[in-house]
Formats: sequence, structure tokens, C-alpha cells
Amino acid sequence: MAENSEFKSKIGLIAATVGSAVGLGNVWRFPAETQANGGAAFLLVYVVCVLLFGIPVMLGEFAIGRAGRSDAIESYRKLSPGTGWWISGFLGILCAYLILTFYMVVSGWTLEYLFQSLTGELYAPIAGVAEGSNLQFSDRMQEYIGSVWPPMIWTWITIIICGAVLCMGVQKGIERASNILMPLLFVILVILCITAMTLPKAAEGLEYFFSPDFSKITPEVWVSALGQSFFSLSLGMGTLITYGSYFKKDTNLTNTAVTVSLLDMFVAILVGVIIFPGVMSFGLEDENFGGSSLVFVTFPEIFNMMWCPRLWSTLFFILLAVAALTSSISISEVSIAYFCGHFKMKRTTATWLVLAPLMVLSSVSSLSNGILSDWKIFGYTFFDACDQFTANLLMPLGALIMSVYIGWFAPKHMMMDQLTNGGTLRNRFARPVIFLLKWVTPILITVILVTSLF
Ligand code: PFF
Repeated sequence: MAENSEFKSKIGLIAATVGSAVGLGNVWRFPAETQANGGAAFLLVYVVCVLLFGIPVMLGEFAIGRAGRSDAIESYRKLSPGTGWWISGFLGILCAYLILTFYMVVSGWTLEYLFQSLTGELYAPIAGVAEGSNLQFSDRMQEYIGSVWPPMIWTWITIIICGAVLCMGVQKGIERASNILMPLLFVILVILCITAMTLPKAAEGLEYFFSPDFSKITPEVWVSALGQSFFSLSLGMGTLITYGSYFKKDTNLTNTAVTVSLLDMFVAILVGVIIFPGVMSFGLEDENFGGSSLVFVTFPEIFNMMWCPRLWSTLFFILLAVAALTSSISISEVSIAYFCGHFKMKRTTATWLVLAPLMVLSSVSSLSNGILSDWKIFGYTFFDACDQFTANLLMPLGALIMSVYIGWFAPKHMMMDQLTNGGTLRNRFARPVIFLLKWVTPILITVILVTSLF
């Protein structure tokens, strides 16, 4: 996607933005966070965070990008020259980089699982573990992510594929592919939902996911849900500022933000409806494996019950790999757009400049699930630290700075102009959104972050 280019069609624009939003965050991170934070209580707070913070912050990012017509840093510079607001864009680039360190690793796991589904190895019995035992998939996953070479090599392969697609140009390849593959992901999730409903403990799983125990709503649950909503909607780090700069003048920002956010939330909820009946039915709630591997254990268990597991498994992991790829691309795009625009670099040079150091950092991230697991940062492994630090601190902080900017320091009428397309569009949500960004979002995000510290 070259600088100043535009998304071709309305559907392409939605597909590319949904492509950024829907990814490992929905399928891998959401169920793990739900399980770690009390099930339905987390879901409830998550939905509130998407509606109250996610949609307004997304609109804020779109507006800055379309008004500034540039990358995350330059857009601030153009809108408020001579001020320090561009630092917010810079923080976003830093955050994007940290996310990529673990995102590429999990994308690599997806490719390994795709490969093993194709060869049938994933469904072959393992020595010492009874066939059909629910240890089969959790043992396999534990052993795999703790090993040295296979996850690291798949991570490198992922980075190279991502780099190749980014160099070829996003619009032709990925935009077209995601128009077809994203709807297919929805379809397969719906089929899996129906299958999950036939599991013996489906009702218990649904109760765990949908019936909240209000006493479990703690400040930590708020921070995790806020972090998850920003992670899942790709907010707080400039990605959607960059995408906003590719929007057309007559794009209806509000409709786009609402559509993308609801679709993204819908995918996460579908995944929960599949996973938790599986967790209960296969007795995985007592299993001693980290939430990280939840999806890589529960989904194969479900495929194993279906007709032709390899077929479903292959299809699912292809779609998950593509969802991960479209998201990785959007995360990388923040830095690449900046290098291309600011330093007038060729796209290929910028791409490899961003991705080459990532080979090293994501290798460290992968090893921190195995031989480097004793190396802790604030009690977390490198992998978990990058995950928790970005989602639960840097992204909310980025969103906080951005909403303070829009509410108090951006050029007067900029936000209103963007929400009404220069006054040509009637938008009854414009004033409430501006009010939320000025008062509610900054205050509540600050309260959530501060209370969680004490
Ligand atoms: N939203 C993506 C997901 O749910 O997997 C991850 C992501 C993409 C985070 C882009 C941040 C971002 F800027």
C-alpha cells in the first residue's frame, strides 16, 4: 500500500480493516484472557470496553489519519506542527514492534499446525499417551512450544512470508485475498460452533462463558479487558491512523468503525462459544497448560470428533494463518509507512529494515517459552512480558494520549469535520463521540490504569 494510495472499494476498505482487527487476538488471545480472568465476567467487561472505548478511539485514529493524510507520526506533525504530539505516533511504532516479537511466534505455531494437519501428524497417536486421551494434544503443544528449533524456524518462515507480501504490495494480493478468506473464516467458525453445541458438556461451557459472576470483576479484569479490546481492534498504536490515511474523502468513518468493531467482537464471541464447551467436555479446565496453548489444544480435540479431522484442521489453520498474516501486515505497515514517507525509502528496503531485527527478537521470544523460560522481566517471560506490557499498558496509554489530543489540542473542528465529512453528512453520533473522547475515555482509562497499579 503506497503512501497516499486509497482503498479501492468500500468492501475492500472494510475487509482490509477487519483483516487487521480479526487475527490471533480473537482466536488465540481472547479465550486465553477470558480463562485467566474469570470467564463471563471478563466477557461482560470486554463488551463494555469495545462499545465505550474501542469505537470512539477507532474513530479518533481514523480521523487523525484521514485529516493528516500520512503515517502515524507525520499525521500529528501536519495537524499540529511545531508541537510534540508526534511522539504519540513514535510510541505507537515502538509498541507495534514489541507486538510483532510475539505475534510472529504465534503465527509460526499456526503454520506448524497447518503443516501437521496436512501431513496428518497432528492426529497420529503419540508414544506413551493413550489414543483418544485428552493429553494427546496438550502434550504435543507443550513439547512443541518448549522446543528450540521448530518454533523458531516457523517464526522465521512467517516473517519471510510477511515480508514478501509486504514488498509485493498489499492492495493486490492481500486485499483481494482477504475479501474471500475472511468471510470463509466466519463460515467455518459457524460450522464449528454447531459442532461444539453437540459436545457432552456444552451447556456448562456456555454457562461459564455467558453467565457472569459479578464478584470476579476486579481492577485487573478491567485492565485485561481494556487491553484485549484495544489489541483486538488494533488500537492505540497508530495502525488505524495509517489505515485512515488510505480512506477516501467520502468514507463514512462512523459506519466503518461500528461495522469493524462489531464484526471483530462477533468473531471473538464465536470462538468462545466453540472453545469453552470444548474445555469443559474434554476436562481441559484442570489441565496444567498455559492459556497460550488453549486454542491449539481445544480446536484439534473438536476436529478429532468430526468427520475427516485433517480436512477441517487444514482449512481452519489456513484461515487462521491468513488472519494472522493480514494482522501482522497491518502491524508492520505502521513502521514501513513511516520509513517510506519520512526517509523516502523504497518499500522493499523499508520492509526488510523493519523485519530483519525482528528475526532476532522473535527468536528470543520463542526461546522464552522453553530454554529461556527462567529469564523473567517483572515476573514474566520475554514472550509474556511483550504481550502484557503492550496490550495492558502501551496500547491504553497510546489511546489515552490520542483522546486527550483530539479532545483538547487538535485543530478546532477537525474531529467534527471528519465525522461529518466536512458537513456533508448528518451524523447524530458526532457530538456524543467527541464528548466521550474529551471526557470519558481519558478519565476512565486513567482510572483503570491507576487502580490496577495499587
Ligand atoms: N488486532 C489484531 C488481532 O486481533 O490479532 C492484532 C493487532 C493488529 C494489534 C494490528 C495491533 C495492531 F495494530
